[in-house]
Amino acid sequence: MDKSKHNNKNENFNNIVIHLKNLIRDIDTPFYLYNIDELIKSATHFIEAYKKNIINNPLGIYSAIFTNNNLFLHNEICNSNPSFGIAVNSPAELDAVINNLKLPPDKIRYVGGIQPLSILKYVSTNQVIPHIASIEQLSQYCDSIPESTKIGLRIDVLGDGLKGIKANELPLALEIIKKASCKIYSLHGYPGTNVLDEHRLLRFALELFLISKQIKPAVKEINLSGGFGYDYVYRKPAICLDTYFNGLNKILKNHDIPTNIKICFEPGRILFVNSGYFITKIVDVKKISNIHYNVFTDACFTQFPSPKLTNTFHQAFVVDKTGNLKKGMSYLSKICGASTLSTDQIIPGLCELNNPEPGDFVIVLDAGAYGRVGSYHFLGFPKPPEYAIKDDKVILIRDSVNDPLEIGLQRNLQKD
Ligand SMILES: Cc1ncc(COP(=O)(O)O)c(C=O)c1O
Repeated sequence: MDKSKHNNKNENFNNIVIHLKNLIRDIDTPFYLYNIDELIKSATHFIEAYKKNIINNPLGIYSAIFTNNNLFLHNEICNSNPSFGIAVNSPAELDAVINNLKLPPDKIRYVGGIQPLSILKYVSTNQVIPHIASIEQLSQYCDSIPESTKIGLRIDVLGDGLKGIKANELPLALEIIKKASCKIYSLHGYPGTNVLDEHRLLRFALELFLISKQIKPAVKEINLSGGFGYDYVYRKPAICLDTYFNGLNKILKNHDIPTNIKICFEPGRILFVNSGYFITKIVDVKKISNIHYNVFTDACFTQFPSPKLTNTFHQAFVVDKTGNLKKGMSYLSKICGASTLSTDQIIPGLCELNNPEPGDFVIVLDAGAYGRVGSYHFLGFPKPPEYAIKDDKVILIRDSVNDPLEIGLQRNLQKD
């Protein structure tokens, strides 16, 4: 049996179980819990794999705020290594990062879609380079900026995306930029989320590198963004970063990509996913057959939207009210939400749960990406608070109310 492929539901869990015992005694469910050690381990692994395989080009990494918008977590990542900055996609995110993290503008990348000119100009007044995602936007932007403004372009690399300048539109884009006496600083492309195959990501990188060769003088950075997939069954990255960076290095060399171009990434899922847990209490259990249970929790799917947002299937554990892992018979369980909606399930599909009973807790694994960031108020349930284990202590890192991002959103709405 290939041991690297065993189902490692139990791994890493022991690190949090001791803290969980106190948390479930002291605070209301549902909530998110992050293990900072795990988060930094993922961040470090990314950098080490790059450094091991990419010989010459410098590296830039911008943790994607759209995957998890807890600023405390991004701060931890940015402090862990100087290669890190943050990728944002809206004025509210930009404000929140500038006001709360005190990152210099060159550590922030703005990668929205096709957005109003007023927003693009707001970004550039903050000395952050927006990535322009269409020819029309580029024309408007170039008409409104001073000469020598640095320009970022979002490219629709494979030609089938909703946003981005298509490869065959590049000559026109270059003409518009030349007329405005500006230069392209950065090229950006996004391959889509949860890509499970290194070779698909490599093909995407090759295309973007080839497109970059049409630009003279050469761009300063090429941003391959995120998309690195995660295997929720085996609980590990689906992309082997060593294989990927090794392949990338070969492409860089074979295609004579200048070694002073910074190769950039905006990883989201693989940075955050396995450091996060979602904890909810079991309110009721209905036996459907000898092997099937419906398990009703105190959470709503709006509080844990990852499965609906990006189609992920999570594994889960049961602990009893004193925080001990439940053992015994495993039942195929529908983990149901507490709202009136007939389709409210925390994890769509059937989960194997050991002997779930009312008063126990369900611990959903790999909840760090597209979880709390995507929660919303449909059906009236609050956004769950978030806690983190750092230096062996548990701290509240965001409650349901005081969210700098929501405060930033209010400010932005007033601005318009
Ligand atoms: C432009 C961009 N960059 C990075 C990311 C992060 O992607 P992932 O979580 O797939 O790594 C996203 C996710 O939507 C994105 O849209």
